[in-house]
Amino acid sequence: MSLTPVLTKRFGTAQPWKIENYERLDGYAGLRQALTLLPDELIALVKDSNLRGRGGAGFPTGMKWQFIPQPKAGEPSKPHYVVINADEGEPGTCRDLPLMMNDPHSMIEGIIIACYAVRAEYAFVYIRGEAVHAIRRVVGAVNEARAKGYLGKNVLGSGFDCEIVVHAGAGAYICGEETALLDSLEGRRGQPRLKPPFPATNGLYDAPTVVNNVGTLASVPYIVLGGADWYKALGPEGSPGTSIYSLSGRVANPGQYEAPMGTTLRELIGLAGGMSRGKDLKFWTPGGASCPLLTTEHLDLPLDFDSVVKAGSMNGTSAVMIFDEDDCVVRAVKKWSEFFEHESCGKCTPCREGTYWYVGIYDRLENGEGTEEDLDTLLDLSDNILGRSFCALGDGATSSVSSSIKYFRDEYLAHVEGHGCPHTATRTLAGAH
Ligand SMILES: Cc1cc2nc3c(=O)[nH]c(=O)nc-3n(C[C@H](O)[C@H](O)[C@H](O)COP(=O)(O)O)c2cc1C
Ligand code: SF4
Repeated sequence: MSLTPVLTKRFGTAQPWKIENYERLDGYAGLRQALTLLPDELIALVKDSNLRGRGGAGFPTGMKWQFIPQPKAGEPSKPHYVVINADEGEPGTCRDLPLMMNDPHSMIEGIIIACYAVRAEYAFVYIRGEAVHAIRRVVGAVNEARAKGYLGKNVLGSGFDCEIVVHAGAGAYICGEETALLDSLEGRRGQPRLKPPFPATNGLYDAPTVVNNVGTLASVPYIVLGGADWYKALGPEGSPGTSIYSLSGRVANPGQYEAPMGTTLRELIGLAGGMSRGKDLKFWTPGGASCPLLTTEHLDLPLDFDSVVKAGSMNGTSAVMIFDEDDCVVRAVKKWSEFFEHESCGKCTPCREGTYWYVGIYDRLENGEGTEEDLDTLLDLSDNILGRSFCALGDGATSSVSSSIKYFRDEYLAHVEGHGCPHTATRTLAGAH
């Protein structure tokens, strides 16, 4: 298995974020080609490529674009919007920020193509507030694109107008949930909206809106240039293309590795120079803290949307966090539970109260005051949160809890029987999230 740089092909070249360098390496050629097509032809092309959203759920992008209702002759119509989700808050995930820092124009080119396809004149990039460096980089790139005629009135003489607004969020994980993001963008407190109606009909300012992830839209210029068949040939049939896998934790060289969808963990660890210090793998996440844990038995599982679901987890954001034999699974799940409790927006009871109870129980287990009954309470709580919460944050909070008890019940019991963490003596866990 080797790296397959598509989205990362300009990483490491001289100042790839500058528009002249971007243009030298095919930059904005996809947009020029897209403008020769009709909007519906573009939507059909993206549908045919089977590009699936990189924000976590893997929803087919072309289908999402097609849901935007088109105006009927003689009827008044609302404006359409494209919103780019650059909140990137999922623990372990680090690929949208490197993309925006290294190659902001690929996202911008994808945004302009998406706007043209769904007949939107305005796009909003919602970037998490702490990422000031990325906000500056994207604002600079938008200004460069406008100066070159790729944005603004009459893009490249096509008669199509397009403007991009860069918005800084205030740093809340829930604002990555698309409807909470829209509320936040409108100036309200970021909390999820009831669905339906979906953003495709009632999104930003109650108008038809496409919400897409940074990596999803950055893939679009390559699909326009390379064609749907080229893209489909890059990965498995149901999950084509490449993914930027962010590897963190106990590997020799943590970082971003772009490889075809369906690459296995064994291959990714090989790309990252093996496990650090020659230790054995113990558990890992295929797509961030919201996805059920996997173990050594899943080393050869193809990491694509469908295969990972079949194995009982989710591909999520391809955030692969790797833990070895010395790491304590209870401690790792405790850290993630603290994260979810902190980030729960409080709108619904199962998530607000359930994550609070999780933290109390994990504190007890780690402090040597846990009981075997606590394990049943954790599972009971998970049962009450999963499928009963208002948004997927609650569901995600249960993933590591339930899966860790499924695979590592003995380690939980060792905490109970040994009155505390058996790993504390050997090593403490650094960077659980
Ligand atoms: C709690 C929560 C946080 C999320 N955070 C992000 C995020 O930071 N970035 C992102 O693209 N999608 C995030 N999502 C998924 C979005 O709701 C949405 O599915 C995605 O932006 C759609 O884009 P895509 O179709 O291109 O994948 C999050 C979802 C939830 C429930
Ligand atoms: S599941 Fe959690 S984050 Fe989502 S609405 Fe309920 S309280 Fe808020």
